[in-house]
Amino acid sequence: MKQLYSPSNLCKYVLFFCLSTVLLSCKQDHQPEKVEVEPTLKEAYKNYFLIGSAVNDNQISGKDSLGVQLIKEQFNTITPENSMKWMYMEPAQGEFNFEMADRYIDFSKKNNLVFIGHNLVWHSQLAPWVNEIKDNEELSNSLKNHVQTIASRYKGKIHGWDVVNEALNEDGTLRNSLFLEKLGPEYLTNAFKWAQEADPNAELYYNDYNMTKPKKREGAITLVKNLKEQGAKVDGIGMQAHWSLEGPSLQEIEESIIAYSELGVKVMITELDVTALPNPWDLEGAEVSQNFEGSEFMNPYTEQLPDSVSNQLAKRYRDIFALFKKHQDKISRVTFWGVNDGQTWLNNWPIENRTNYPLLFDRQFKPKAAYHSVIQVAKDSTL
Ligand code: G3I
Repeated sequence: MKQLYSPSNLCKYVLFFCLSTVLLSCKQDHQPEKVEVEPTLKEAYKNYFLIGSAVNDNQISGKDSLGVQLIKEQFNTITPENSMKWMYMEPAQGEFNFEMADRYIDFSKKNNLVFIGHNLVWHSQLAPWVNEIKDNEELSNSLKNHVQTIASRYKGKIHGWDVVNEALNEDGTLRNSLFLEKLGPEYLTNAFKWAQEADPNAELYYNDYNMTKPKKREGAITLVKNLKEQGAKVDGIGMQAHWSLEGPSLQEIEESIIAYSELGVKVMITELDVTALPNPWDLEGAEVSQNFEGSEFMNPYTEQLPDSVSNQLAKRYRDIFALFKKHQDKISRVTFWGVNDGQTWLNNWPIENRTNYPLLFDRQFKPKAAYHSVIQVAKDSTL
């Protein structure tokens, strides 16, 4: 007994105890941990709204295989970024080119993606022959033929159409496009009626940018009310949402979502991206769009986005999605304008060849901090 509790033996016991505790805790550390797998965007938001992306020809042709993988994994709806615009669909009068559009539709069907047609009537990316039409009746017939030929070809295959895109000025008045100038405001009602005749079950939308600005919002509301009064079917309003880190304010976004919803139509966020670069039009009193072209000041993050800005972007996306989630009863779809930062149109607008970071996936197709914050919002039951 005496020997058992000798000081040297006691030391050994203490050492043994300590060692075994350390070993045990090491063993516990190496137990396979329960790793929580993050849901994808479409899984995270499945109870709230559709979540989509604009897609391009490289994805449809399969050249951009990593992009295709992300589209299939993350999204449940797609919008063609360019290929269904007038200049591609009807490059010569009465001569339609359906090849790419057919492939987009096949891709969406094969991958079970809700397809949004973009767009039937827009003053931009028109085929040059349209501008040369002198006779107003011929222009009206061409517009009707364009809308009806395309909408009826894809009847039953398209969930919704951006029937008219960007027909408003910033002050809410009607944009003085070729169509307004020659056909008067009736062209808008006609476009919706022609689309409905061609594909009665497709949802029909009015789509525009800066839809949060009070004057433009009023204009959009008046436009949709007028269209409905004149017997056109309008199912939804698309807020394009080409936004920045600073604006529009959450209050402006929220007021707009509520105001559009009160018209009795679905609200859609149709072209979401958040520029992380300086915007010359935010500066006052200088023709900065030319002066800053190519300058380091206007293209500050050519290698990578600094953590401070990346965190700002993640916070901005968090705030925006918390608001969308709050208004899930009004919002039916949120579509990003592109899959990853390498492909966004914002690398070339408003200044060419910049390195922008407006989306949720980086140039290596990896999820960014902004992606994780969007997922967190969906999971957070307090939001
Ligand atoms: O396809 C040609 C290519 O052959 C040529 O070599 C190249 C040279 O510049 O141009 C290519 O066309 C470009 C096209 O995108 C396809 O990449 C055009 O120059 C370019 O102007 C065009 O930009 C598109 C823009 O609409 C045109 O207005 C953007 O990709 C597209 O994201 C953007 O999308 C619009 C929505 O439709 C409506 N809302 C605003 C949104 C952003 O502007």
